Amino acid sequence: MFLLLAVSSCAAPRSDDEPDGRGCTSTADCLGRMTLREKAGQMNQVSTATIKDKPQDLATYGVGSVLSAVGGSPTGTGGTAAQWADMVDGYQRQALKNRLGIPLLHGVDAVHGHNMVQGTTLFPQHIGMGATRDPDLVRRAEDITRQEVLGTGIRWAFAPCVCVPRDDRWGRTYEGYGEDPSIVSPLGAAAVRGLQGPRPGKDEVMATAKHFVGDGGTTFGTGDNGYLIDRGDSRMSEADLRKVHLPAFRAAVDAGVGSVMVTYSSWNGKKVHGDRYLITDVLKKELGFHGIVISDFAGVREIKGSGYADQVVRAVDAGIDMIMDPSRYKATIDAIVQGVRDGRIPSSRVDDAVRRILDAKFSLDLFKHPYADRGYAKNIGSPAHRAVAREAVRRSQVLLKNEGGALPLPRTGTYKIAVGGDADDLGLQLGGWSVSWQGHKGRTTTGTTLWQALRKTTAGTGISVRNVGAATSGDYSADVGIWVGGERPYAEGHGDSADLALGGDNARQLSALCARVKVCVAVLYSGRPLIITDQLPEVDAFVASWLPGTEAEGITDALFGKGFSGRLPVSWPKAVADEPINAGDGKKALFPQGYGISPY
Ligand code: BGC
Repeated sequence: MFLLLAVSSCAAPRSDDEPDGRGCTSTADCLGRMTLREKAGQMNQVSTATIKDKPQDLATYGVGSVLSAVGGSPTGTGGTAAQWADMVDGYQRQALKNRLGIPLLHGVDAVHGHNMVQGTTLFPQHIGMGATRDPDLVRRAEDITRQEVLGTGIRWAFAPCVCVPRDDRWGRTYEGYGEDPSIVSPLGAAAVRGLQGPRPGKDEVMATAKHFVGDGGTTFGTGDNGYLIDRGDSRMSEADLRKVHLPAFRAAVDAGVGSVMVTYSSWNGKKVHGDRYLITDVLKKELGFHGIVISDFAGVREIKGSGYADQVVRAVDAGIDMIMDPSRYKATIDAIVQGVRDGRIPSSRVDDAVRRILDAKFSLDLFKHPYADRGYAKNIGSPAHRAVAREAVRRSQVLLKNEGGALPLPRTGTYKIAVGGDADDLGLQLGGWSVSWQGHKGRTTTGTTLWQALRKTTAGTGISVRNVGAATSGDYSADVGIWVGGERPYAEGHGDSADLALGGDNARQLSALCARVKVCVAVLYSGRPLIITDQLPEVDAFVASWLPGTEAEGITDALFGKGFSGRLPVSWPKAVADEPINAGDGKKALFPQGYGISPY
């Protein structure tokens, strides 16, 4: 990611009101001309949901970065690519009025495609990409995400999550590629390469390896912020932390990742946001990470300390370079300036942080190209992009059961298919982090549902399809039944689950459908394994579809003969009592990690 730029390490602070009509031209030049207060300003990332009411503060305070997360989109939720580009350029225009003309870096959670924007191409969530085990496919998918993000003027993506989810009850399990570093590391590195593109400069989107480190290893019952396991405590030895959770960060750093986000979780009782050993000694010194370490959203507020100013000082001293906080930029600036004056933060630490931030901005060529490159906008959600997502969907499907050759379904001949459950619900197939933070059911963006895909596949054939929806206990019969359903969308700790239950409605629908058809197929949308031990005997075929994204024709491709090649990226438990369950721990899974039938 980084061009090595000559920098001066001990720049003398200037007075705040020094007039300077000329923009700065290199990291060294900027650092040499910035006041301490301006430097502290660059160390902030503020939410657009807050700054929209006072955009002039971007220049007044020299804010380094903004993020568009919850409520920060041009329309509150969603919005088209053109609306996003206008919004992003608008903030940039405001920000560039700062004394030295330092451009703003705009960040977004583009975690399975440019998912907060409507009309974009949404890929399977990471767990599905993990089932493909294919770094090149991940790189191609992220390369498309890079282009779609660029089309909206955004230059920083908070992805990939290189977490290693060890307990499927964690609501963020689907954000990880799998339960083992050998799965996560190559795919995470490939995602970094795809997002950042072939070379530094104006066509690059800075990637973020998150969340450093141990977020997927927290102990159930230790969750913070009211959650069961999310933001919890990783109770493990340093050897285990290094063996399971660190390798993917090493791989991401080696792939040139531009930023690393710190985890909300704790390691043996201490919040990682304040852990100088992990952030400075391990990440920066040992792994040789030269990019930006960013805190998680308001994560600094969770460090043990005597008030916000103290928390900021501890975070910066631990090695955090940029503080992501929705609204407290003024307090953050004051705390950093005061911390330096009091001798609690060495000024070299501030210079190091700002150097990393400015290096990123020069490396992205933001100074010369601060505005959206609308040339990329025309391909957002294009058929060519969606074709790659469709391929990824097909290759992420894991076939868990296929009794009596139930699959593939014949493409010709005359027969009847009854479809039950939620086959026509796009939001369900997207999961969380889709248009909104938590995601929601319904037609939230442009895409093809499984029901639409089934209609397309069977159009003009002798195969008739009928969608009974939730009314699976009605009066009908068919040769083949396809039940589609699973988890309602969720994100982060809101998805923590104590039971991993399929849910009564799902179970009833599935049984009723299977009782009325000759061959019964289940397609499960879920961010993780659910307990399906009782349902398996009722079906002839069972497909773990994960959260496939906008292109469900990838599912019909697999069902109708193009083959299943997905392999479980996690161990699938028989009962929730078996959690946490991971390969090599001696527990017997219902289906082991790596499992997946390929009958054709
Ligand atoms: C999440 C991060 C995300 C950030 C910004 C936090 O709640 O933990 O993964 O990047 O919000 O939206």
